[in-house]
Amino acid sequence: MQVSLSSQTIRPEIQALQAELVQWRRQLHQYPELGFQEQQTAALICDRLNAWKIEHQAGIAKTGVVAVIPGAHPGPVLAIRADMDALPIQEMNQVPYCSQRDGLMHACGHDGHTAIALGTARYLHQHRQDLHGTVKIIFQPAEEGPGGAKPMIEAGVLKNPDVDAIIGLHIWNNLPLGAMGVRSGPLMAAVELFDCVIHGRGGHGAIPQQTVDPIVVGANVVSALQTIVSRNLDPITSGVVTVGKFQAGDAPNVIPDVAKLGGTVRYFDPALDGFFPQRLEDLIAGICQSYGATYNFDYQQLYPATVNHPGMTDLVRSVVESVIETPQGVVPECQTMGGEDMSFFLQQVPGCYFFLGAANAELGLNYPHHHPRFDFDETVLGTGVELFVRCVDKFFKEGLTYIG
Ligand code: NI
Repeated sequence: MQVSLSSQTIRPEIQALQAELVQWRRQLHQYPELGFQEQQTAALICDRLNAWKIEHQAGIAKTGVVAVIPGAHPGPVLAIRADMDALPIQEMNQVPYCSQRDGLMHACGHDGHTAIALGTARYLHQHRQDLHGTVKIIFQPAEEGPGGAKPMIEAGVLKNPDVDAIIGLHIWNNLPLGAMGVRSGPLMAAVELFDCVIHGRGGHGAIPQQTVDPIVVGANVVSALQTIVSRNLDPITSGVVTVGKFQAGDAPNVIPDVAKLGGTVRYFDPALDGFFPQRLEDLIAGICQSYGATYNFDYQQLYPATVNHPGMTDLVRSVVESVIETPQGVVPECQTMGGEDMSFFLQQVPGCYFFLGAANAELGLNYPHHHPRFDFDETVLGTGVELFVRCVDKFFKEGLTYIG
């Protein structure tokens, strides 16, 4: 599918920003930083905000930055969230703006998110005389883990002034340039992890009657866990239980003492919160007990599902439709079992997170996210600013009717 954007839809002032957007994105791309270590990234953001005299606070949840742009007229408060961390991946692209740091790379597009948020801040600040409300721009650390959204909320970024609604976007190579993924309700999955150590009793591979074989117990556990999604979930509901780690034994004729299992659980429906850890442990406990083994079980709920507010999604969809020429460019089937800590913001205030298609196969810019050759078509940077600016405008005019 090739989707075209109307060239008139990006206003000339934002088109004129494009060169700088690319420059900021490439500078960030060359110096990627992992979660909670985004010092240089935050410094670049603060440097720009200082130059434009935009009020801001740095050092929130270690490396987070929040800029506040009060309009000249009173009105509601809309937050825009951008994540800014990179990944522990060795870049394999050969471009002039390649990562200068061994083993680190912006392989998810968060460099682009930061550039779009900076461009949006600049444009809105220049037009603050026309704004009927306040915009808060949240530059968030550590989306890739362990998660910067929650500590930023705990630090009060949604307060003073109190945020009425929030929007955010992800540059998305699963969609072609010009297409956009907008969906009400669950967009991305809850992300949970588990670890289980099964303690048996080791011994000679030829004398199993004297042992409790943790490999056999573990194999039964792996099989039984597959029944959670297939037998315990409503078939209409989606979920995944993946055992991605199974380590046991060193020799073919020895029964080991322990087997170690680990995996991830994903689902969309917030009503399933708390269901999986209980069901996993029930199965593990029952199987271990029946074989005379014992176990340790550790379960972590990392991010809840990313669930969009219907009203805010309607607002974003109407803005996206005003920018896209082809109606089929708005893609509602854009759910992914990937996770996002934007979910924590969306639990606090109504909002919408959406995908900005950025793949350009003709230019070879269509590798998946987290791939060492990931890169995206940079024309989305200006599109992102235009979308955010239009969302702000619409929210200040009619937003309260969308969030009731
Ligand atoms: Ni990402």
